[in-house]
Amino acid sequence: MVNTNILQEKSLLNKEKLPQHIAIIMDGNGRWAKQKGKLRVFGHKKGVKAVRDTIEGAAEIGIKVLTLYAFSTENWNRPKKEIDILMHLLVSSLKKELPLLQKNNIQLQAIGNLSQLPKKAQKELNEVIDKTKNNTHLILNLAISYSAKEEIVNAFKNISKKIVNNELSIEDINENVINNHLYTRNLPNVDLVIRTSGEKRISNFLLWQIAYAELYFIDLFWPDFRKKDLENAIIDYQQRERRFGKTSDQL
Ligand code: IPE
Ligand code: IPE
Ligand code: MG
Repeated sequence: MVNTNILQEKSLLNKEKLPQHIAIIMDGNGRWAKQKGKLRVFGHKKGVKAVRDTIEGAAEIGIKVLTLYAFSTENWNRPKKEIDILMHLLVSSLKKELPLLQKNNIQLQAIGNLSQLPKKAQKELNEVIDKTKNNTHLILNLAISYSAKEEIVNAFKNISKKIVNNELSIEDINENVINNHLYTRNLPNVDLVIRTSGEKRISNFLLWQIAYAELYFIDLFWPDFRKKDLENAIIDYQQRERRFGKTSDQL
C-alpha cells in the first residue's frame, strides 16, 4: 500500500496557493479522554500539545493568520470545575509558549468578550499580546469567550452610536463598514475552517467572516491533531475550485 499521507506532504502542498487565514474549531478533548477512561480535563491538557504543533506547522507552512477557537461564550455553561481548569490551562500555556511565539516571530491577538475572563487570564493574555506585538510572520488569533452573534450585536451597537452622533449616515453602511466593526477588523476573511471531532457544525464561530470559507471536517479528536493533519487540510483546500458564484469557465 502506498502511504498517501507521505506522498501528499512531499509533493502536493502548493506554497503559491496557501489559504491566508485558517480558523480551527478545536473540538473533541472530552471524548478523547473518555475513550481512554480518563476525566475530560485530561483531554484538555493533552489538547495543548496539539495547539503547539498546529501553531508550529502553520508558521512553517507560511500561513498568515491562524484563528483558534479555544472557548465559546456558551462554554461558560459548563461545570465550574472544568471552566476553572480551562482558564488555568490558558494562563499556564500562554506563559509557557511565549518563547515559541518569539522564536517563530508570531504575533498573538485575541477576540471575544475578554472582560469576562478571570483577571489573571486577562493579565497574562495582555502581556503576551504586548510582548509579541511587533512580530510579523504569523498572526495567532485566539477566540476566547467568543460568540459570533455577540460580535455582530456589538457591531450593530457601535454602528448605531455613530449614526446617532452623526458620524455615519445609514446610506454609508456597507460590507466594509460592518467588517470594520467586528473584532476581526484587522484580519482578512477566513479561507478555510477546520473542525475536529467529527461534528459538522459551526457552533457560533465567525459567522460573518466565513461567508465564503471552505469547510473541512476531520474525524480526529483535537488532542490527536498534528501539523501533518493541517497540511492535509490545506492540500484538500487547494484541490477545491472557489468559484464565488461564477461558473467554472469564467475562472
Ligand atoms: C473542545 O473539546 C474544547 C473546548 C470546547 C473548550 P470539548 O471539551 O468540547 O470536548 P468534547 O466535544 O466534549 O469531546
Ligand atoms: C465549540 O465546541 C467551541 C470550541 C471548540 C471552543 P463545543 O464543544 O463547545 O461545541 P458544541 O457544543 O458541540 O456545538
Ligand atoms: Mg465539544
